Amino acid sequence: MDSTESTMLAAIAWLNGRLLPLSEAVVSIDDRGFQFADGVYEVLRVYHGQPFAFREHFARLVHSARAILLELPLTEADLKDICLGLIDRNGQQEAEIYLQLTRGVAPRSLQIPTSATPSLLVAIKPPRLVASALRQDGVSMITVNDDRWAHCDIKATALLANVLALARANQVGAYEPLFVRDGFVTEGASSNFFLVCGGSLVTAVADWRILPGITRHFVVQLAQELGIPLEQRNIPHQELAEAEEAFLTSTFREVLPVTRIDSRPVGDGRPGSRTRALQDAFQQLLP
Ligand SMILES: Cc1ncc(COP(=O)(O)O)c(C=O)c1O
Repeated sequence: MDSTESTMLAAIAWLNGRLLPLSEAVVSIDDRGFQFADGVYEVLRVYHGQPFAFREHFARLVHSARAILLELPLTEADLKDICLGLIDRNGQQEAEIYLQLTRGVAPRSLQIPTSATPSLLVAIKPPRLVASALRQDGVSMITVNDDRWAHCDIKATALLANVLALARANQVGAYEPLFVRDGFVTEGASSNFFLVCGGSLVTAVADWRILPGITRHFVVQLAQELGIPLEQRNIPHQELAEAEEAFLTSTFREVLPVTRIDSRPVGDGRPGSRTRALQDAFQQLLP
């Protein structure tokens, strides 16, 4: 078996009750996810055969689904069974689970259909791995105008603004864009953002302007356990110039140092001690 074949076998989908190779999982062109991005999603990491923070991901899925007036078609226990079944089938200890729930198939109309059945995809794939050089040395960000909608707390599949912001960052060689809305730093295109300023860890308050990241949630707890002062508040754009350290968080990146923002070094340009402490503490949490 060559590596492409083994990668293909490692990618399996549960689509509306059917188990399929990911490449064979297809939905109708009338699915409202395809037509309108009328859906929500989650991404979970599997470590040593265990889905990490399943409870927290499920709670966020419930929040997202409610926020778009979509009823979740299954319970937490049902969904966990599906995920564990996929992990078992896939046979890999390290994996990533992508879950997408859309409003289902209906003739194209903006009106919410009364009778459509929600469409649920749960797919398991090899995990995206972050190069150890980036974990060690850090990554760069550039600030971009946060022109996303006013419900960034919903993990909606409509990600075009995030796609374009990342393209802008990548065009100038930056790893991730850093959104700024009305003069305040919010988050990355697919990550939450933290900085250390005056000895305190600072991150944007979890309101409509950011996704309440699961990794962010654990990092906030860990900072409290490690005795690192923490402020969840608005971060003025100018404060970036005073940052001693910065990092971003997300499910597949975990805690990733940020050492340059808008081509200027953060602090001395190297990952700082608080970033390292939280990186290590996060690793200790994993199964
Ligand atoms: C906009 C945005 N913010 C933050 C995050 C990080 O969230 P989590 O830690 O739950 O992966 C993501 C993850 O994809 C995201 O898309």
